[in-house]
Amino acid sequence: MTRRLDGKVALVTGGARGIGYATAQAFAREWARVVIADLNVAGAQDAAASLGEQAMGLGVDVADPASVTAMIEAIIARFGRIDILFNNAGIGANTPFLETRLEDWNRILGVNLTGAFMVAQGCAREMVRVGEGGKIVNIASLSGQRGANGRAAYGSAKAGLELLTKVMAVELAPYRINVNNLAPGAIETDIAKVMHDEATRAAYGRLIPMTRYGTPEEIADAAVFLCSDEARYVHGHTLNVDGGFREAGLMFKPDAAMQRAG
Ligand SMILES: NC(=O)c1ccc[n+]([C@@H]2O[C@H](COP(=O)([O-])OP(=O)(O)OC[C@H]3O[C@@H](n4cnc5c(N)ncnc54)[C@H](O)[C@@H]3O)[C@@H](O)[C@H]2O)c1
Repeated sequence: MTRRLDGKVALVTGGARGIGYATAQAFAREWARVVIADLNVAGAQDAAASLGEQAMGLGVDVADPASVTAMIEAIIARFGRIDILFNNAGIGANTPFLETRLEDWNRILGVNLTGAFMVAQGCAREMVRVGEGGKIVNIASLSGQRGANGRAAYGSAKAGLELLTKVMAVELAPYRINVNNLAPGAIETDIAKVMHDEATRAAYGRLIPMTRYGTPEEIADAAVFLCSDEARYVHGHTLNVDGGFREAGLMFKPDAAMQRAG
């Protein structure tokens, strides 16, 4: 127990399960006062209850401006401030470019990009109002950095979020608000069940140097770092947490190469 986030008010969107819930747990272990906000209201409330009295569970649809405003008002009414935003709520789909319908495109960008923008803007305004700085971590994705099958809308939304983060980093630095991206690779959660069929899983097994999916807890550990004072000079950065997937080049078994050379 190191109390790295002692007393901070931390909002985790999409925190009822998966990466968001693991991160909410990690923030609470570091003594933050955690708000879990999710489309799944009962899930958010149950998740918050599991963290103890200091936590708060709220319903929100991040794609709905009125809902985002109501969420922020409820947090301010209870805690008076927001110090940390883990901007995580997201949806996925695995749809080929030629079959992506405009309504699917709009739905995915509406949650993953426009929704993230609205939540970040609302929280940043509160941080500026209070005047004591803050931390914003936007949850991007390796799908926003590399072209991959089925990721036309999802990947475009996440790429847009990476760029938005850079603009926010420039504009919010004078207010001592740290803004970064955390980009998960393949993480074992419910969204991965929707987006990863057996062929995708087998391909990841070949393409990830660490040869396995990550866990929500491994993302949460990186999130605590980015939201702690230890990361105070990390700014406008994208931290990939992906088992080496992004940086890997040619991968082969050394003994097989030796056999060919011999
Ligand atoms: N799991 C992965 O492999 C992976 C990889 C890269 C990025 N990500 C990103 O990480 C984030 C979390 O993903 P996860 O794997 O934990 O997914 P998940 O599906 O397990 O959890 C997502 C949560 O977001 C909530 N949510 C969905 N739409 C919402 C909305 N409109 N408003 C509020 N809440 C909403 C859901 O109810 C759910 O609780 C997402 O942004 C996702 O794109 C995940």
